[in-house]
Amino acid sequence: MVKLTPPMGWNSWNTFGEKISEKLILETADVMAENGLLECGYDYLVIDDCWSLKERDKTGRLVPDPEKFPGGMKAVADYVHSKGLKFGMYSCAGNLTCAGYPGSYEHEFIDAETFAGWGVDFLKYDYCYHSPIVAGKYLYRRMGLALENCGRDILFSACSWGADETHEWIKESAAGMWRSTGDIFDTWESVKKLIKQQEKLHPYNGVGCFNDMDMLIVGMYGKGNVGLKGCTDVQYKTHYSVWALLGSPLMIGCDIRNMNEETRKILMNRELIRINQDPLCRQPVKLTGIWSGEDMVMYARMLSDGDIAIGLFNLSEGKSAGRFNLDELGLPMSTGKTLEMTEVWTGEKFTVKNSTVARNLEAYDCEVFRARVVGQ
Ligand code: GLA
Repeated sequence: MVKLTPPMGWNSWNTFGEKISEKLILETADVMAENGLLECGYDYLVIDDCWSLKERDKTGRLVPDPEKFPGGMKAVADYVHSKGLKFGMYSCAGNLTCAGYPGSYEHEFIDAETFAGWGVDFLKYDYCYHSPIVAGKYLYRRMGLALENCGRDILFSACSWGADETHEWIKESAAGMWRSTGDIFDTWESVKKLIKQQEKLHPYNGVGCFNDMDMLIVGMYGKGNVGLKGCTDVQYKTHYSVWALLGSPLMIGCDIRNMNEETRKILMNRELIRINQDPLCRQPVKLTGIWSGEDMVMYARMLSDGDIAIGLFNLSEGKSAGRFNLDELGLPMSTGKTLEMTEVWTGEKFTVKNSTVARNLEAYDCEVFRARVVGQ
């Protein structure tokens, strides 16, 4: 299924791992529908790995673990739909999922039919325990075909980061999004590593096949399914800003039943969501600039209304001062134009009349501007 802007939602893995249950999913559905997340656009609720029994039934079908999901998956899907949300599930291109549950290898068509029968709208499809003989691109194409023909619109989320050169063939698999990097963890080092990996991959993004930088860790504060130290609010803000600006899907990974005010503010920054969901989904472009600190990263996106989103990201543990040049955006500022800049976190507004913009950034901090050219 083709989705025209990056998918947004919540996924159980980062915080809950195998500790998932019907109760958790129904409570999460309630919260998504009631606390403003759905209104902001977060509409997919996805159950990740560990939902099934370790064996298929006699007819070869996957079976939800009755201890975790006593009412079965159709009932969960119905409840999720009743809240105005869409329902996502997880499987794998290998014999087993990454956590050791049955995978869909050689069961692609029957599994697609099962998911469709339950009312699934989104399938995250992993790449653990895959065949050493059949290439990833054929395994993803096979599941893509199964989903395209299962009688229901199911968004195919390819978690294909472990396959070779995924960006070259992923569109042929009918995937609506594809994981371009390895797993995220709730540490700043992990966020920084994933951002750096986008240096080569960021152009492989666009309508209908979005570059998935992995799920968000915003608001986890070390309470994930593996004990890690977590990040500070500034680091979560910068993490979210990069994901949003680069056009990644935005899948929340924290326990949304217990979000603090800062987490709400980050996840519900409407200006950033508007940039992420820009209808034309143009690829981001990388900018350079001259900065005093190390690890300054800059990206921009040309938006559908003519505005430009510009992000300055200080990934280092020290301050950074510097400047960037608007020529890199193809803006002929010397010909009398003015750029009106609005920062999406602080609301700060200022105008620029020449081609250089100078800024100061605190450690780990970022600025994202919506910039509009005015004048002749
Ligand atoms: C892989 C994926 C994760 C998660 C786990 C589940 O590591 O990349 O996002 O789905 O498997 O086991």
